[in-house]
Amino acid sequence: MADESQKWVLMVTAQTPTNIAVIKYWGKRDENLILAINDSISVTLDPAHLCTTTTVAVSPAFNQDRMWLNGKEISLSGGRYQNCLREIRARANDVEDEKKGIKITKKDWENLHVHVASYNNFPTAAGLASSAAGFACLVYSLAKLMNVQEDNGRLSAIARQGSGSACRSLYGGFVKWVMGKEENGSDSIAVPLVDEKHWDELVIIIAVVCSRQKETSSTSVMRETVETSALIEHRAKEVVPKRIIQMEEAIQKCDFATFTHLTCADSNQFHAACLDTSPPIFYMNDTSHRIISCVEKWNRSEGTPQVAYTFDAGPNAVLIARNRTSAALLLQRLLFHFPPNSETDLNSYVIGDKSLIEDIGIQDIKDIEALPPPPEIKDKVPAQKYKGEISYFICTRPGRGPVLISDDNQALLHPDTGLPK
Ligand code: DP6
Repeated sequence: MADESQKWVLMVTAQTPTNIAVIKYWGKRDENLILAINDSISVTLDPAHLCTTTTVAVSPAFNQDRMWLNGKEISLSGGRYQNCLREIRARANDVEDEKKGIKITKKDWENLHVHVASYNNFPTAAGLASSAAGFACLVYSLAKLMNVQEDNGRLSAIARQGSGSACRSLYGGFVKWVMGKEENGSDSIAVPLVDEKHWDELVIIIAVVCSRQKETSSTSVMRETVETSALIEHRAKEVVPKRIIQMEEAIQKCDFATFTHLTCADSNQFHAACLDTSPPIFYMNDTSHRIISCVEKWNRSEGTPQVAYTFDAGPNAVLIARNRTSAALLLQRLLFHFPPNSETDLNSYVIGDKSLIEDIGIQDIKDIEALPPPPEIKDKVPAQKYKGEISYFICTRPGRGPVLISDDNQALLHPDTGLPK
């Protein structure tokens, strides 16, 4: 190792996307290794709109491992962080930076400490799978810093030990988490199905639902579901294996009708299993149910499905539209039913890819008030509006996997001190 008195800092910055499951993971067969009771499939979301950026640094000057999340120091003592750190350290290799005169040997890594700073470009508390992007980015950036030679599949098995869904964030496009059979979890890894260009017509709108309910950790509810629900066993053994085959085929063929049928059915079955848990857990709320009925009504009236919906362990809706035209029509319907509160400005109500609101000719809040009711509402009762039930919408699309960021200006740690900027 270079002279200890030289207080050098070596850093790596990476960006990792989040993902949303279209065939859900729910239930573990091993809690410590995080091994699932069924395969799952997800779509990776465009990191331009939802991602985690992480800078990891090593220096002989650091006397303990430390981490900051969105600027606030958090503890790394939890088992999940410790498992990821241990597994990555065990695979570290020699690192040399000739310009800086740094030489770290494989053995040195056992005694060197790291600093980690992580930042989500979306609200962490919004219930948008921030742990998936977070653990994937932690593992990916540490692997690069420590010159770990393993491919993203092997890294996914380490990220999985941070949070199950994190393993799917090691790739872009559509990704399958193969549950595996081995007791040590070595074959429980993510596998890329198709990249983000394969089905590039898809447009994704996330409705972040206002909710006063405190988030319940999905980990403990998952355990209760496995312990008390008969439906979850039937789902894992009989339903999901067939759906995985059908879903892979629908994705390969860009068959939107089958994709929608499977995605909606799987989300609904996951929430049914939550209801079948003792005590039952309700992740969706009235707003979530209203979004489902709006989409179901529209899909039915069109004859061919225009949009698929899926909900994770919270009330937010992830809506996948077949193309840009359908996405614009969907946004029109959503804005009609869920106009913002009067104090909200349009710019913060529809975020992400804002070009979609231009497509529907909406320039300010007044234009939302003037939207006509969707034609499929033929009832005599006037179409219902639920002002203020949605916090905001994020317009996005399928996106790419993790990348390294070479621009030092984007690093979250100071290059001289290794402390947050
Ligand atoms: C509903 O991956 O957050 O989002 O493995 O305990 O960390 P842990 O759980 P987590 O669960 C995600 C569940 C889900 C479905 C999915 O992403 O497949």
